[in-house]
Amino acid sequence: MERRPIVMANWKMNKQPNEAIAYIQTAAKAVASYPDVEPILAGQDVLLQSMVDAAEDTTIEIGAENVYWKEEGAYTGETSPKVVANLGVQYVIIGHSERRNYFRETDEMVNLKALAALRNGLKPIIALDETVQTESNNAHMHWIVNQVIEALKGVSKDQMQSVVLAYEPTQAIGSGMAMGPEQAQKDLYMIRETVSDMFDAKVAEQLRILYGGSVKPENAYAIMRQRDIDGVLVGNSALDPDNFIELVKLAHQAKKTK
Ligand code: 13P
Repeated sequence: MERRPIVMANWKMNKQPNEAIAYIQTAAKAVASYPDVEPILAGQDVLLQSMVDAAEDTTIEIGAENVYWKEEGAYTGETSPKVVANLGVQYVIIGHSERRNYFRETDEMVNLKALAALRNGLKPIIALDETVQTESNNAHMHWIVNQVIEALKGVSKDQMQSVVLAYEPTQAIGSGMAMGPEQAQKDLYMIRETVSDMFDAKVAEQLRILYGGSVKPENAYAIMRQRDIDGVLVGNSALDPDNFIELVKLAHQAKKTK
């Protein structure tokens, strides 16, 4: 089964409007040379419209960083998944570690948001974090498996074709200390096995699972060569469009080894 790798930049709360557009203009032509890799940029809500406009007629897809789980209503300050989809945005990150840790998002909220994204035609990139790395192996496995089960409750087999999972160990985010490729492979394999148990082997085989946490051009190839790692979700390093282009190229090279 061929899975098209993803290189996704998560700009988080960075980039001014003019910088966002300049980035897309810089990256568009170069990433188009690697059509076997899907390049995605995620930015703040207020940047999404200009990102979508700048990415028109390019191969770059645009993602939001969060949405609410209701389409409309009296929810001051929240962002409707329906509005985001209507802007022409294709993806949305759900349950990022920073949302879970700083904004107290629970597994239940992550699940509601994932379902709302799917209902509105957005593809959710559901982020799984890991905060119990140093505890026993059992606790580590239980933590990850449980998050997968809770996040995907009520998602149908058909909808799973639009779902992407992203595993981002909390201590690897922004620390410069990426997880070792073999350990990341082990964890992603376990995530895929959990999806296989919940749905079936075909759903699991088609599902794209990303690794995130201190990915940069220097370590990305070794990570993306792993069998179960279908791309990367990148913060700091991908703020620079040249690094983003390099990561897309490395994803293309890593794919050839699989
Ligand atoms: P860094 O690449 O800065 O570690 O961030 C990872 C991340 O959180 C991407 O969503």
